[in-house]
This record gives sequence, C-alpha cells and structure tokens, in this order.
Amino acid sequence: MAGGSLTILGVETSCDETAVAVYDRRKGLLAHRIYSQVATHAPYGGVVPELASRDHIRKLLPLVQDALATGACRPADLDAVAYTAGPGLIGALLVGATVTTGLAAAWGIPAIAVHHMEAHLLAPLLEPDAPDFPFVALLVSGGHTMLVDVTGVGLYRVLGQTLDDAAGEAFDKTAKMLGLPYPGGPQLARIADTGRTGRFDFPRPMINRGLDFSFSGLKTAVALTARELGGSGMSEVDRADLACGFQAAVVDTLIAKCLRALEHTGRERLVVAGGVGANRSLRVRLAAELAARGARAYYPRHEFCTDNAAMVALAGAFRYADATPGVAAIRARARWDLQQLEPPGAGRD
Ligand code: KG4
Ligand code: ZN
Repeated sequence: MAGGSLTILGVETSCDETAVAVYDRRKGLLAHRIYSQVATHAPYGGVVPELASRDHIRKLLPLVQDALATGACRPADLDAVAYTAGPGLIGALLVGATVTTGLAAAWGIPAIAVHHMEAHLLAPLLEPDAPDFPFVALLVSGGHTMLVDVTGVGLYRVLGQTLDDAAGEAFDKTAKMLGLPYPGGPQLARIADTGRTGRFDFPRPMINRGLDFSFSGLKTAVALTARELGGSGMSEVDRADLACGFQAAVVDTLIAKCLRALEHTGRERLVVAGGVGANRSLRVRLAAELAARGARAYYPRHEFCTDNAAMVALAGAFRYADATPGVAAIRARARWDLQQLEPPGAGRD
C-alpha cells in the first residue's frame, strides 16, 4: 500500500472470535491477538449469540492493551481505529463498535467502520506475495459462500453466492451429524483426509450451471446415509469414508465454480479467503487445476483465513481516506451487501 506513515488499531468481534491487531502501513503488522470463544460455545454445539456478546465484553479491552503492548505502541501513536461493523451477530458487533468508537473518541482519532467480507477478501494483501488487482475472490466461511470480481478496493461485483447453507455451515452441520464435537468443520476435514474416495458419491448441486451455490441437498443426502450407517454411533471407517465423500462433493463444487468464474471474467488470479480456505484438500486440488490453466491462487496465512483483526486493520488503512474527525456514530449492521461499498474517497467532491 502506498503512502506515508499510518498506524491503525483493528478490532474484530462479529462472531465468536475477539481479535485485536496493530497495522502500520510502512512497517506492516506490529501485533495481532485472537481469543477464540470455542470453549464457551462447545457445550451448546454452536455459537450462542448472547454468550458471544458477553465474552467480547470481558475480553476486548484486555486484548487491546495486550496488542498495544506487544506492538510497543501507545494510543498517541495511532492514527485511527477500525472495527468490524457488519455483517455478523448484532450483539457481538455492537460490543466491538461501541468499545472501539469510545476509545477513538477518548484518544481523539477517527473510528472506521469495516465490512467483514471486504476485510476477508483483502487479507491476502498482508502477505509478502500479495496478488495484484484485479482478481476473483472466493469467500468461504461459516456464514458466507460467494464469488466476487474485485477490480480494486471497494469495487466488488458479486458473481454468485449460496442460495442456502454456506460451505462452512455445511461442514459444521455434517460434522454434528457424524457425532463430531463442536466446532466440527476442521475435525471433519481431518477425518475426511483419512477416508476412502469413491465409496460414497454424493450430489454436487448446481455444479454444471451458473456461479451460485447450494449445499442443503448435499447435507440431506449425507444425513440419510449417516442414518443408514447407525447415526453418530457409526464405525470409524464409515465416518471417515462419509466425511471423505462429503468433502469431495464440496471441494468439487467450489473448484468448478471458481474455474467458471475465472473463465467468465478472464481473470488469472484467485483469492481464497474465509475459514474453509484453510481446507487442505481444497488447496491441493485448486493448485493443480489452476496451474493447468496458467492461473494461481492466493491465500492469507493460516491464522488469517479465519476471523482475525489484522484484516480489519488493513481494510481500515485502505479506508482511512474516508475517516472523518470528531466523535463517530456507532455503526453495526447484521446484514450488509458487499456491493454497496464504494472505493475509498468516492464520497468526497
Ligand atoms: O471465516 P470464519 O472463521 O468465520 C466466519 O466468518 O464464518 O470461518 C469459520 C468456518 C467454520 O464453518 C469452519 O467449520 C470452517 O470455517 N473451517 C473449515 C476448515 N477450517 C475452518 N472448513 C473446512 N475445512 C477446514 N479445514
Ligand atoms: Zn469471517
């Protein structure tokens, strides 16, 4: 990113991770801290929004202090704070928005509201081997599955998205069906890698047409097979084979849509971001398919595939041009269309 010195504190609280980072436009990332609420939600088998909000309240300020100390950064060194304003769980978002806007007011610096999915798709720009614009982004998380044509910061065209479950949600729900403890997605992926390919051939909904996704039919097909095999009491071998069949269907579908999106747009760079982007099988197979077409994939480092504040601080740095002085309004939106965003500075004369 071009420009002079600019230091941003980033805050992420949209779901079940409390995260804080300090990003410096010249020096790069100075500190990042992530506190995962997994243990809080595990007994319930999923994220409980009320508990998420309460835990963010407990953890956010200590994490801010910790990140500033790690980055050897004082509030006086900061130019702005950036926070995830949506989309996400509204109570969780409000904690981050309120605390961050309050800190900004006390420190006399602007607070920048960041779109969570924009932060995810810009995350690979934190890496030394960052992609140039334009690129196609596959955003695959627990809440979203979408393909976006990205021509620059704030220039996003959604090419396709899921009509029902997100890919990560399908991983998590299938894991639950197989009796795997929460959070199931990564565990399911691990077991899938030990299963036999070809035993279960599950449907790949909408694979041959368009750029939208649908995973609920696949989930139902896996549920029926799982029941036949004895539900959560099935043998380890059955569980691994079933997981393998499920993962292959999701990965096949994601890859087919990515290749189609690259073909339609004429792009040769694919950014993969969001939690499912950590999936090993997806990465290995994508690399081969893209190489055969003279294209390549770009990923954030592993810990920045899932929710983090480094990506929020970076997005805040890109959007600093729009920061206004004075006490900012507190912004939090459970739903927020990515395509409503504009390039930084677009609102000025
Ligand atoms: O981006 P993220 O941290 O949070 C959301 O904004 O949703 O993504 C979390 C999602 C979960 O659904 C999780 O099961 C999935 O990413 N996930 C994976 C893997 N690691 C995380 N899914 C498949 N394979 C993985 N290795
Ligand atoms: Zn996310």
